[in-house]
Amino acid sequence: MAPVSYYTALLRPLLFALPPERAQGAAELLLKRHLLWKALAPFFQVSDRRLRVSAGGLEFPSPVGVAAGYDKNCEFLGSLLNLGFGYVVGGTVVSAPRAGNPRPRITRLPGDQALINALGFPSKGMEAAKRNLQRLRKRLSRPDKPIVASVAGLTVEEFLRCHAAMEPLVEAVELNVSSPNTEGIRLFQQPDPFRELLERINGQRLKPLFVKVPPYSDPWGQGQVLTLVHLARAQGVDGVTVANTRPVQAPALARGMGGLSGRPLLEDTLRMVAEVRSELGPRMAIHACGGIFTASDVLRALRAGASTVQLLTGLIYQGPSVARAIHRGLLRLMEERGCDSLQALASAPE
Ligand SMILES: Cc1cc2nc3c(=O)[nH]c(=O)nc-3n(C[C@H](O)[C@H](O)[C@H](O)COP(=O)(O)O)c2cc1C
Repeated sequence: MAPVSYYTALLRPLLFALPPERAQGAAELLLKRHLLWKALAPFFQVSDRRLRVSAGGLEFPSPVGVAAGYDKNCEFLGSLLNLGFGYVVGGTVVSAPRAGNPRPRITRLPGDQALINALGFPSKGMEAAKRNLQRLRKRLSRPDKPIVASVAGLTVEEFLRCHAAMEPLVEAVELNVSSPNTEGIRLFQQPDPFRELLERINGQRLKPLFVKVPPYSDPWGQGQVLTLVHLARAQGVDGVTVANTRPVQAPALARGMGGLSGRPLLEDTLRMVAEVRSELGPRMAIHACGGIFTASDVLRALRAGASTVQLLTGLIYQGPSVARAIHRGLLRLMEERGCDSLQALASAPE
């Protein structure tokens, strides 16, 4: 059970009284007050060498990252880093501005600590994201924390353009071929288009590359995702993010369906991470994403074979101190078990 905080007792009820996109808008307005979060950073940061992780060609001061979709236009990534996260994934960025799907397109399931969204990549486009990242780079207070850009497109050329625009401004790029809300990108879940996409990206890339895969629940889906993962490894991809939201029916949304996120995903995330890890072997990074809320969730993900974790719905339900709570929890677990690194904790007897 998560402890009651100012956020869960006071701020969350106010935000949750608003429709989800209005609440997100209010949170974004606050997070754009960069100086405020810079001043508050010491309150949220838990800097400890025992939390460090090296994965996918990057050094992370902590393995807890913000997943793609919270800051689609890279407008307040610095504030998210000041909340204590070890890294952030901005985006998903697409090449030209897009309105996304018709509203309503997010609904909350508070009893399950979950959301369903069918946003469909609303985006100000890559030029806006680029400008925001350029500004961020000038005033970044923690340059040791990796910034990753999630990019997508409906064609290989669109992916290439976005990748080329974002890569110089970030430490790594994550290719999103897994949104359940944008029909066209599912093309890249087919082996041949996916291989072509990776070959073309490899022709231009200079930095680590991650791929975010869709979730699966049956042997057919498992075969499809594991094929993508093998192709990614063969193409020298540095890490896979497992996984995106789970497609579900959603009568409350204009589209009638969307992607489920939050608490109900955790067990599936752990199962998929373990399966992907046993396919991949130890070398490639795996970023576990889906239903991570607490330190014990992170430990379970690390035990399943994850190198880092990413969360989004946990930030909305637990609030700005979620990273601090997870970090303190991980350090407590390490002390209880006499471990001096996350690696040692993950391999210690339960
Ligand atoms: C409102 C919302 C928007 C999202 N937008 C994106 C996105 O643009 N790109 C992406 O790769 N994933 C996106 N996701 C999926 C998350 O990155 C993540 O994979 C998923 O929510 C599971 O993690 P969680 O349970 O911690 O939220 C979005 C999720 C939500 C709830």
